[in-house]
Amino acid sequence: MRIICAENYEGMSRQAANILSSVVAMKPDCVLGLATGSTPIGTYQELIKRYEEGDLDFRRVKTVNLDEYVGLEPTHDQSYRYFMQSQLFDHVNIKVENTNVPGGMAQDVEAECRRYDEIIASMGGIDIQVLGMGHNGHIGFNEPAEEFPMGTHQVDLAESTIEANARFFENRDMVPRKAVTMGIGSIMQARRILVVVSGEGKADIVEKAFRGPVTPKVPASILQMHPDVILVGDKAALSKLL
Ligand code: F6R
Repeated sequence: MRIICAENYEGMSRQAANILSSVVAMKPDCVLGLATGSTPIGTYQELIKRYEEGDLDFRRVKTVNLDEYVGLEPTHDQSYRYFMQSQLFDHVNIKVENTNVPGGMAQDVEAECRRYDEIIASMGGIDIQVLGMGHNGHIGFNEPAEEFPMGTHQVDLAESTIEANARFFENRDMVPRKAVTMGIGSIMQARRILVVVSGEGKADIVEKAFRGPVTPKVPASILQMHPDVILVGDKAALSKLL
């Protein structure tokens, strides 16, 4: 694992954008695995800036997102499709038909999960997967569990995740209780993984995930088994690891 320690959130965002930009530059038709949440917002802003300056071209880039809430329309301002449109896709020259977010409104959720796995396979896999990390060690919405789930599947969100994400909704009751997420298997098959972490609130879980035992009770700990992980964090988030 490579660890890049930045001074602060802005530095973390620039370093993460450097890595993603290099992938796009080297392989203009690459497949980017993307995440939502607050941590990668600065990274996406950096990518937009580089696109506007003429240094990045998304015309042939394809994307797959990690997850989506069940029951939110893509137009809902807390849906992850809406997040991706407003934080990145609407501001660069990516083709919307080349972007993929699991469908949260599917009648048949099982069929939607299989469709999503087929999309990833048909693209030839993910060149680089961006991951944030939940305070409980979740990646995507793979919550602490008894085993590592393989493919895309529906999950019940952990109480701590509902609590953490309530800040984005009018009140806690409005946070969806279920989500569709890529499995740990799909994430681990990505050729390269870029983990972004920021703030002292993440320091304990970062240490647990990368120094503790590999266990589905800390889903991110599986990343210790991946051959090409880059962890980009600010000093505060990496304080217990370095
Ligand atoms: C988002 C996702 C989540 C977040 C995690 C951290 O697509 O899958 O695993 O990455 O909850 O969220 P933030 O960055 O808001 O701390």
